Amino acid sequence: MKITVVGAGAVGATCADNIARKELASEVVLLDIKEGFAEGKAMDMMQTAMLLGFDTKITGTTNDYSKTAGSEVVVITSGLPRKPGMTREELIGINAGIVKGVAENILKHSPNAIFVIISNPMDTMTYLAFKALGLPKNRVIGMGGALDSSRFKYFLGQAMNCSSNELHATVIGGHGDTTMIPLTRLATYNGVPVSKFLDAETLKKVAADTMVGGATLTGLLGTSAWYAPGAAGAAMVEAIVRDEKRVFASSVFLEGEYGQSDICMGVPVVVGKNGWEKIIDFELNEEEKAAFAKSADAVRAMNNVLSD
Ligand code: NAI
Repeated sequence: MKITVVGAGAVGATCADNIARKELASEVVLLDIKEGFAEGKAMDMMQTAMLLGFDTKITGTTNDYSKTAGSEVVVITSGLPRKPGMTREELIGINAGIVKGVAENILKHSPNAIFVIISNPMDTMTYLAFKALGLPKNRVIGMGGALDSSRFKYFLGQAMNCSSNELHATVIGGHGDTTMIPLTRLATYNGVPVSKFLDAETLKKVAADTMVGGATLTGLLGTSAWYAPGAAGAAMVEAIVRDEKRVFASSVFLEGEYGQSDICMGVPVVVGKNGWEKIIDFELNEEEKAAFAKSADAVRAMNNVLSD
């Protein structure tokens, strides 16, 4: 099993590190455009192998796509990250060119790969990759909801003073500060609605903190986060390679589901060896449906920038 991670920066390297530690593949290839960068990151990680006890081989390459040949899963993180005050959407022009070029190069060498797209603005990048690659829709999957849902559970866990692992909570919609939808009504602690434990005001604050979760970290770090994004990407890769059938909110191409078509945005999907295999219908109420439609309008407006 070979897995490629494109972009050896903060998110890509963290993702590759998690993949190696979990031994999800015999080989991980890191590819970056910056001379020597991926090679350096790979060598540094390989020098942790005997300390951490993993046997995955990590190699790096500067833009030599032949080294990625035969990859079964490819994670795309190449592109610019946010700086403080920037929205994910402001990255569109630069990252669109990067993601399209990278995805096409990868496909030439790995025609059977499943693509996990992380570069921002992620929903638009996933849509762009899906259209450019011409692959079956289940083989292109955007990572956003896995991270946002993890942040949602973190803030819920803090508010409830409980383990986040005991919570089920999902963020759907677009992967943007104003477009994501933390589904507070459906969040549960051991099957009990969290509204039994938290008042409406607190729940509202948890949702608001979740939505600006990435921006808060960008403000603190001076660039966007990497530990949780990298771990979220690796968790999705794990679900694919181990055929786990885990449910992650992920950006996928919709054809009428959740009332939307010709768009990629976050909905709960089953992830397994075929990529995303099935969309779960959460049966949204009217308010949630309206929020999803509004979120879709914003994502679609972003997609339209590509064709302008
Ligand atoms: P970074 O700047 O640390 O790494 C990006 C890497 O991409 C750099 O090493 C750069 O040399 C490389 N790169 C640029 N153009 C390339 C090309 N044509 N081919 C190969 N490599 C290329 O950035 P970071 O923090 O790793 O973020 C990467 C992307 O992920 C950004 O767009 C960021 O906004 C996005 N992101 C998405 C998240 C999500 O939930 N979907 C969460 C966090 C970040």
